[in-house]
Amino acid sequence: MDKIELIERALAARDKSYSPYSGYRVGAALLCADGSVFTGANIENASYGATVCAERCAVFAAVMAGSTDIVSIAVCGGRYDETDVLSGYAYPCGICRQVLREFADPSSFTVIVARSTDDYREYTLEELLPESFGPEHIKQNRRT
Ligand code: THU
Repeated sequence: MDKIELIERALAARDKSYSPYSGYRVGAALLCADGSVFTGANIENASYGATVCAERCAVFAAVMAGSTDIVSIAVCGGRYDETDVLSGYAYPCGICRQVLREFADPSSFTVIVARSTDDYREYTLEELLPESFGPEHIKQNRRT
C-alpha cells in the first residue's frame, strides 16, 4: 500500500462521514505494519461533545482488530461543496494526535494530510506533537 492508495482510501472513507451539524466531512485511512488498513470517518452527535473524529474512529477499529502496530495515516476533510473539491488540508486535532501517539513511534509515524491524491503534505507525528507524553513515561514512573 503506497501513499497514494492510502489517500484514496481516506477519500473514500470520507463518504461515510456523518456530520449533519458541522457539515465538515473527514475521512481517514490508517496503515499498519502488516499492510492492513483501517478507515474511519467523523461521526457527529446531537450531544455535540459525543462526536468522534475520523482519525480516532480508524485507530479504534485497528485496535479492535488486534492491529496496534501503526505506521501511517492519511486524512482528508472539508465542507461539502458542489464540486466536492477540498478547499484545505484537514490536520488532526490535538486529541487525535495524542491517541495516535499511544500506538505510534513518533519519529517514524507519518501523517499525510491530503486535498487529493496529487495535493498532500506529509509530517512525522513528532513534528505535529513535539515533546509528547506517551506510554513509556507511565511505565518509567510506575512504582509497582
Ligand atoms: N474532525 C475530525 O474528524 N478530525 C479532526 O482531527 C478534527 C475535527 C471532525 C469533528 C467534527 O465532526 C468536525 O470535524 C468539525 O469539528
